[in-house]
Amino acid sequence: MKKVLVTGGCGFIGSNFVRHTLQYHSDDRIINLDKLTYAGNPANLKDIEKNPRYRFVKGDICDAALVRRIFAEEQIDTVVHFAAESHVDRSITGPADFVQTNIMGTFNLLEAAREAWLKDGALHQDCRFLHVSTDEVYGSLGETGAFQETTPYDPRSPYSASKASSDHLVSAYFHTYGLPTLITNCSNNYGSYQFPEKLIPLIINNALQGKVLPVYGDGKNVRDWLYVIDHCEAILTVLERGKIGETYNVGGNSEKQNIEVVHTICDILDEKVGWMPDGKSRRSLITYVKDRAGHDRRYAIDATKIRTELGWSPKVTFDEGMKKTVSWYLENKPWIASVTDGSYREYYEKMYGKR
Ligand code: NAD
Ligand code: DAU
Repeated sequence: MKKVLVTGGCGFIGSNFVRHTLQYHSDDRIINLDKLTYAGNPANLKDIEKNPRYRFVKGDICDAALVRRIFAEEQIDTVVHFAAESHVDRSITGPADFVQTNIMGTFNLLEAAREAWLKDGALHQDCRFLHVSTDEVYGSLGETGAFQETTPYDPRSPYSASKASSDHLVSAYFHTYGLPTLITNCSNNYGSYQFPEKLIPLIINNALQGKVLPVYGDGKNVRDWLYVIDHCEAILTVLERGKIGETYNVGGNSEKQNIEVVHTICDILDEKVGWMPDGKSRRSLITYVKDRAGHDRRYAIDATKIRTELGWSPKVTFDEGMKKTVSWYLENKPWIASVTDGSYREYYEKMYGKR
């Protein structure tokens, strides 16, 4: 049985990962350390909170004493590190939290693992420290080509610079101390429980309410979309079969211009719930707005390495994944309302006390 410390398990990908792992993959014990920032919502895991193989700890990955205590108490042998400030727009208006959590927090976790996994003068090689990172560290592509693991780093936002920095620290701990690390660099995820500040849930939420659908710049920036459960499967695959010290790119092989994504959402909603009361399609809500500063033009992942060496490839197509995702948001309107109006805090305070 693995004793897994998941950081950021109350966020979008983390909560999907915790649920998916407990449900399908093993008898692992999971300790979820999450600070519960605006993006962390304990209600995301309400259905599994009583599972005896699950424990939630509210806390900051930058808190060295707390992290050290968790390693000792739970005899942690595996870390899956999701916790981060993750939204590019927020990193432009307030970069300090990104430097603190993404860089210092990762450093703190690495130090705790290095201390805890030292046995007889050497680091225990059966342990694993998997750092969940992003394709944004590679910068922006022109019209052709795709990011490979060997592509030089060229981060261009405070978010991607902080993630690049954390990747370098993880890599340094492998080379310098022999810490058994793995890094995954993944493209844009979508699916259930994504906070409605990111493109897909924001557009779904606004379209349902008849609000403006803001498209940055000319709407032709390209992202490579991956269904979140496929990402969770990729992480589990890398944990099980990945070679220590290596990096694996993870992508959906599903490049779309932002405007295509917005059209897809409008069309699915028009089909599922009918046109708006004014008799128009939700496409009529699309509004081109000022571009994001330093907006990366195109991301695309070359996932040859993880496919050929570890046997992972995405299972869910974009069309399938988008239908599932829109349906989930339609069936979970109270969830969207709670994360946008703050009432989920009542749930949290009832469960875990005031913060
Ligand atoms: P998210 O913003 O939805 O969740 C982040 C979680 O981390 C939240 O639960 C938050 O409370 C927690 N957190 C933040 N600061 C913390 C701290 N100091 N201590 C403890 N917990 C803290 O993020 P996400 O979209 O689920 O992304 C998870 C990870 O995956 C991030 O590292 C991100 O860089 C990476 N990633 C995301 C995507 C994507 O498309 N969303 C793609 C590739 C990689
Ligand atoms: O590539 C992986 C990254 O994907 C992750 O590392 C990040 O954590 C995650 O937030 C995501 O970053 P993006 O900036 O690509 O995602 P976002 O959903 O914010 O934006 C997707 C695209 O849509 C981007 O080109 C900006 C555009 N956009 C976004 C918003 C919120 C709009 O046009 N309008 C919007 O309102």
